[in-house]
Amino acid sequence: MRRAAVILVALVLTPSAAADPPRAGVTHVHVPPGTSTVEYGRQLFAANCATCHGPAGEGVLTPMRGAGDVTGLGPSLQGVGALAADFYLRTGYMPLADPHRQPRRSAVLFSEPELHALVAYVASLAPGPAIPAPDPKSGNLAAGQQLFTENCAGCHQVAAEGGYVTGAVAPPLEDATSVQIAEAVRIGPYLMPRFSKKQISDGQLSSIVRYVQYAKHPDDRGGWAIGHVGPVPEGLVTWFIGIAAVVAAAMVIGKRLHS
Ligand code: HEC
Ligand code: HEC
Repeated sequence: MRRAAVILVALVLTPSAAADPPRAGVTHVHVPPGTSTVEYGRQLFAANCATCHGPAGEGVLTPMRGAGDVTGLGPSLQGVGALAADFYLRTGYMPLADPHRQPRRSAVLFSEPELHALVAYVASLAPGPAIPAPDPKSGNLAAGQQLFTENCAGCHQVAAEGGYVTGAVAPPLEDATSVQIAEAVRIGPYLMPRFSKKQISDGQLSSIVRYVQYAKHPDDRGGWAIGHVGPVPEGLVTWFIGIAAVVAAAMVIGKRLHS
């Protein structure tokens, strides 16, 4: 069922060809020695994030022009925890330049201590999920490939490449670290669905991470991944079956309407 839904989503292609808007730099703040990590994070947040997420991370629902002519608009961060803060900051998704655009992977402009402080501050807003700790070494490659094909390939196609979803680009996964893969699966950023531990257990997630990491540097000696095509032929077959099914359904509906 889930797979069918993914295929239907994939059928409606809307690539967003427009260039990404230029991104402003980030504001660094200086704090006296002895300032707590959370307080340091609060000040960084006030300078870089509050325009869109509100002074206490409560969210901004009515767009307004703010610092640097950035339109303030963003979801509440209360309860998103270290999980989402770590992912959105370390992928460079945040700070966003335009709240109406899909966040994209870009250069991380904060230093390590700044990232640490911002994550601690967002996590302090309300109880929320922690940063996951996948263990790809304990994962099973074959199981990971199977799980990836069932749950992810509809949007992300071959592991190391991207694809399109309605109104969003499913990015290539080649730059995602193990932790970021696990984070994305648990968060469901932007239009990606979120997978609970019931849908994908922590053990299965480690297998998926192992497969994605493997697919970045396929071991060609075995020859099964000729030309790195991997699951593409299977994906194509799914497409043809899917298109045939849609056409058949349209014909049946058309007949019923006319008789
Ligand atoms: C220009 C507006 C803007 C700015 C500035 C901005 N954000 Fe965001 N933020 C958004 C929007 C819009 C989303 C929703 C995007 C999505 O759904 O993926 C978002 C999503 C997030 C999320 C994920 C929330 C969730 O529900 O999982 C986190 C965490 C986050 N931002 C943190 C930050 C931090 C920390 C900063 C400052 C360094 C920042 N943002 C700056 C607009 C902004
Ligand atoms: C319905 C389509 C869809 C499905 C299914 C899906 N994703 Fe995604 N994924 C996306 C989109 C869209 C984004 C971009 C999110 C954003 O811009 O905030 C994304 C982002 C990601 C990222 C971050 C990549 C980066 O570098 O920015 C990772 C990692 C990821 N997905 C892994 C997975 C895995 C693993 C699965 C399967 C368990 C999966 N996704 C299933 C659509 C999907």
